[in-house]
Amino acid sequence: MVPCETNPARKISVVIIDDNAASLELLSTALASDDVSIVTTEDPEEGLEIIFREHPQIVITDLVMPGTDGLDVLDRVVAFDPAIDVVVITAWDSSETAVEAIRRGAADYLKKPVPFAVLRERIARLVGDAQRRHRAFTFSPETVDAAQFEGMIGRSPAMWEMFARIRRVAPHFRTVLIGGETGTGKEFVARALHNLSPVRNGRFVVLNCSAVVEDLFESELFGHVRGAFTGAVQDKAGLFEHADKGTLFLDEIGDMPLSTQAKLLRVLQNQEVQRVGSLTARRVDVRVIAATHRDLRAAIAEKQFREDLYYRLTMVEITTSALEAHMEDLPLLIKHFLDRFSREYGKEIEGLTRRAQIVLARHTWPGNIRELENVIGHGCMMARGSSVEIQDLPEYLRSPVKARAAGGS
Ligand SMILES: Nc1ncnc2c1ncn2[C@@H]1O[C@H](COP(=O)(O)OP(=O)(O)OP(=O)(O)O)[C@@H](O)[C@H]1O
Ligand SMILES: [Mg+2]
Repeated sequence: MVPCETNPARKISVVIIDDNAASLELLSTALASDDVSIVTTEDPEEGLEIIFREHPQIVITDLVMPGTDGLDVLDRVVAFDPAIDVVVITAWDSSETAVEAIRRGAADYLKKPVPFAVLRERIARLVGDAQRRHRAFTFSPETVDAAQFEGMIGRSPAMWEMFARIRRVAPHFRTVLIGGETGTGKEFVARALHNLSPVRNGRFVVLNCSAVVEDLFESELFGHVRGAFTGAVQDKAGLFEHADKGTLFLDEIGDMPLSTQAKLLRVLQNQEVQRVGSLTARRVDVRVIAATHRDLRAAIAEKQFREDLYYRLTMVEITTSALEAHMEDLPLLIKHFLDRFSREYGKEIEGLTRRAQIVLARHTWPGNIRELENVIGHGCMMARGSSVEIQDLPEYLRSPVKARAAGGS
């Protein structure tokens, strides 16, 4: 199990700080419910002491107070544990302060007088999130196996739909385009398509189009005959011939030069290649999978990508989801990578501390699953005990203000 620290009493604890007794009374009445235990204080310093001692999930603080103000409280709570949700409430309506509070790591910002209903709803959401985070990190090891598809992990609706689509498409496709952000598993999808296709025993040949020098593109793909150009000292088969009766994976197809795109389209239509410098056409039987993280429609508008090739490739399209769109898979993916890296590093790492879990749950993952893989790899390498702690995570994740600003929340 991933969780190393669990909250045995499922009650969510809330500390409320406000120098105005009436307003304290109002807040705690609004929040009272069976799932919540509430501590209130009029003194910010005492409030902080309680927070450091009781380690609540939620802190609600007034902004303007004598001595220590709400932003100070916020800073110190965030420094203590970025996992604590801090809600700042103020009678002074200033959107600048609101932005500043959020930038410094506040979970929410409310203006007094806060209507009962609004307060209850916003806090209920935070309580719900806190409970979900707790549950999400609790699952049995078997679930990881059950959530495997051709090496890919996922059990969210988005992932299952994609797995189903791969399974449906694999037996039949001639060409497929895989779209999706960087690090979302496009190469995995390509391999799964090949492995489930009738040509699974044939070759799976990869060409990364962003790594090929423009002049050599055609020779790489279609081959050349001796003397076709300077340096062509002997006949050479291209990747299409090499992938005959198998699959050719053209990664980063958006980086293919326009002139090569025209020739590729012809090959896809005729299933014949001509080596550079040769007049003879050779028949090839190749399935082509192309992938890109770029918006090819925009590339077409900019005349960087051929529209006819685009339509040819998109007869079947599979799009991978950004990790942020299927965060329910995060705990499983974490577990998967923890297992892998503990094996790789010969360590016995069982999980992440609650604080580390929450930092990961709050991050927006612009680099998607690849970024997560790197983060867990880093964590496992740094971990001294049986769990990855917050200080084992890369620096950019540990600084809550920056992580939030990057997430734009
Ligand atoms: N569903 C998944 N389960 C487990 N690991 C995954 C999954 N998807 C991706 N990965 C891992 O994430 C990393 C990135 O995947 P991959 O290289 O396929 O991404 P990509 O979409 O091709 O990215 P790019 O556009 O940057 O090339 C790989 O190391 C892969 O092992
Ligand atoms: Mg890739």
